[in-house]
Amino acid sequence: MAERDFPDGFLFGAATSAHQVDGGNAGCDWWEWEQRGGSKDPSGDACDHYHRYPEDIALLRDLGLKSYRFSVEWARIEPEEGRFDPAPLDHYRAMVDVCREVGVEPVVTLYHFTLPTWLSRRGGVLAPSSAQLFARYCREVARSLKGRVRWVLTINEPMILVLMGYLQGVWAPGLRSPAAAVRAAHRLVAWHREAAAAIRQVDPGMQLGIAKHWIDFQPLDVTNGLHRAGSALQHRLFNRWYLDQVKSLCDFIGINYYARQYTTGLVHQVPLANAGDPHTDMGWSIAAEGLQAALEEAATYGLPLMVTENGIACEDDRERIRYIDSHLASVLAAMAHGADVQGYQYWSLLDNFEWAEGYRPKFGLVAVDRTTQLRTVRESARHLGEIARSGRLV
Ligand code: FCB
Repeated sequence: MAERDFPDGFLFGAATSAHQVDGGNAGCDWWEWEQRGGSKDPSGDACDHYHRYPEDIALLRDLGLKSYRFSVEWARIEPEEGRFDPAPLDHYRAMVDVCREVGVEPVVTLYHFTLPTWLSRRGGVLAPSSAQLFARYCREVARSLKGRVRWVLTINEPMILVLMGYLQGVWAPGLRSPAAAVRAAHRLVAWHREAAAAIRQVDPGMQLGIAKHWIDFQPLDVTNGLHRAGSALQHRLFNRWYLDQVKSLCDFIGINYYARQYTTGLVHQVPLANAGDPHTDMGWSIAAEGLQAALEEAATYGLPLMVTENGIACEDDRERIRYIDSHLASVLAAMAHGADVQGYQYWSLLDNFEWAEGYRPKFGLVAVDRTTQLRTVRESARHLGEIARSGRLV
């Protein structure tokens, strides 16, 4: 194996989440949040992926990609407390089956930021017994997908949800309360614990993980003790704390990595895009070496890893190609230092609904016309597909 080769079986793929692509997800908290102006655009029919998934998965396969990370939507599956709707369960099982038929490995997320409204009205994550309710929902999904899926992520980015939804109040449920944020973080640990126990009873073959957002915190001024203390503290709290709680209940760790953030105080950061670094259309500083550091540090948990998200919002697709190449080089470097990385899921397969930012940021390997739903494959998609086919980063 030449130095720049990925091992056989490495899962090169792309990721989406249900609310961001499915369309018409009217039974969830985000839908209400959007109607109240919480996003620059309402999600509406999104990419109509709920109906177009067979073509989208075929497209991913034709590009040469080997895996597809997507999420199942709790709000559709359990539209009223305790009533599980067989139609959406069948729908997501059919998605898994389509993946298998075309030779694409499914990576399934059970909770990607959206809650059924019946639960959000009772306090969402903070509602009494929300962990048991989540576990019951996970058990139903596990029964439906039993024997069909190997890679399962219980929760996407618990600490981003805590930060955006409970501390900064810019996402649903819109709370700005340090006390609520601390409670939500602890509660999301219980969610994973209860869900893992429920799923393992149904299907011990499912490998369970968390998709953990990881930020490369760096002091703005390395000679400033406060800046340094800030990056150390934020790293501990944001990157490590949650994983420390759940590591013994995981079979693998998913890392979602996008950017670097500069710290100027214990809880302070330089506003996005103000650090002078090259940055994306989201204002996120590009720092590929941060992914290597993240993977090497996450490897100390002693578990297999997967890059479950990594990507760039940009108008110029050449930037996306550069971003992919530099970050894949980082993955290879981490692997050369012993990190057991099993795959890389680019965010995202499609241009989609980017939460509070609406449809402006373009993360997709594939462009989606908002009026016609026409898919247009970008050069970066072919580029990543070629790397996936050859296993080689040129
Ligand atoms: C991550 C989310 C994902 C997407 C990307 C850009 O934090 O998991 O849904 O919005 O950012």
